[in-house]
Amino acid sequence: MTPSPLISLEHDLTTLQTGAIAAIAAADTLDALEQLRVAYLGKKGQVSKVLGGMGQLPAEDRPRIGALANTVKTALQDALDNRKTALQSAQINAQLAAETLDVTMPGVYRPQGRIHPINSIIDQITDIFVGLGYTVASGPEVESDYYNFEALNFLPDHPARDMQDTLYLPNGDLMRTHTSNIQIRYMQNHEPPLRVLATGRCYRRDTVDATHAAVFHQIEFFAVDKGITFTDLRGTIRAFIDELFGEIPIRFRPSFFPFTEPSAEVDVEWQGRWLEVLGCGMIDPNVLKAVGYDPEVYTGFAAGLGVERLAMVQHEIDDIRRLYSSDLRFLNQF
Ligand code: DAH
Repeated sequence: MTPSPLISLEHDLTTLQTGAIAAIAAADTLDALEQLRVAYLGKKGQVSKVLGGMGQLPAEDRPRIGALANTVKTALQDALDNRKTALQSAQINAQLAAETLDVTMPGVYRPQGRIHPINSIIDQITDIFVGLGYTVASGPEVESDYYNFEALNFLPDHPARDMQDTLYLPNGDLMRTHTSNIQIRYMQNHEPPLRVLATGRCYRRDTVDATHAAVFHQIEFFAVDKGITFTDLRGTIRAFIDELFGEIPIRFRPSFFPFTEPSAEVDVEWQGRWLEVLGCGMIDPNVLKAVGYDPEVYTGFAAGLGVERLAMVQHEIDDIRRLYSSDLRFLNQF
């Protein structure tokens, strides 16, 4: 006996539902689940196919199948929705588990670079003078006798010019012995008023010991204008030392430099003793004349600082050679 079309359709639908529910429960990815949705509930899906057989049914049986079909569709849709939610939360949990951050794990150590104490003090001093309105300039390390000595009013037989003290090149040029060459080069190309700061390497034929290096750094600063006096120089130095070291006692000692008149050296009181930190003075009229300024109209002051000396004072360093040893155990302290 062949089953009636009604019974057979009902049977097909329930079988389909059982198979579909099992397949949905077994789907383990969202993609697989979507494929199942299309396969069962899509326009050309299995449910539609079974319902295609409705045409053979007598009209009075159709509502029954229609109702059953709706129940099956709803059941499948619910199963799909539940499975989708389950798969989505499983996916999120897996992701959370995989991306867990172990905050107790030791960090990755990255060695940190530091600014060398020489560069650091140059930066600090440059900042102070830029704050006072100074312009930053520079000049060559290989220099002619003219800029290093002659224009700075050194006499032809001045001992600094001696081969024992200055490093000469075969062509007669020399390694500059101070940054004062920048005074001449700058003033030659500019008209007063001017306030200039310049930093650079200097070279002397010195035997290296705890306080001497053959290569060292200087900072030069100078100002030229109408009516500049020694008081301006004093005030500038006071302001600069206050800024760098705090308000420590300083003293001016009379001194001599060929390129300044009068000249002085400045000492700071540091740990109970006087330490010389710079040379300075009023720019000698001969220097002003050498760059074409009229010394009857303009006056100026100049000063030169030993950078290594200041760094040694600032950090209580006992030997200048430590500054050049590139020993990280030393440099990492700063
Ligand atoms: N040039 C001098 C030296 O090397 C330092 C110096 C002294 C520079 C007095 C100046 C100055 O500008 O006025 O020892």
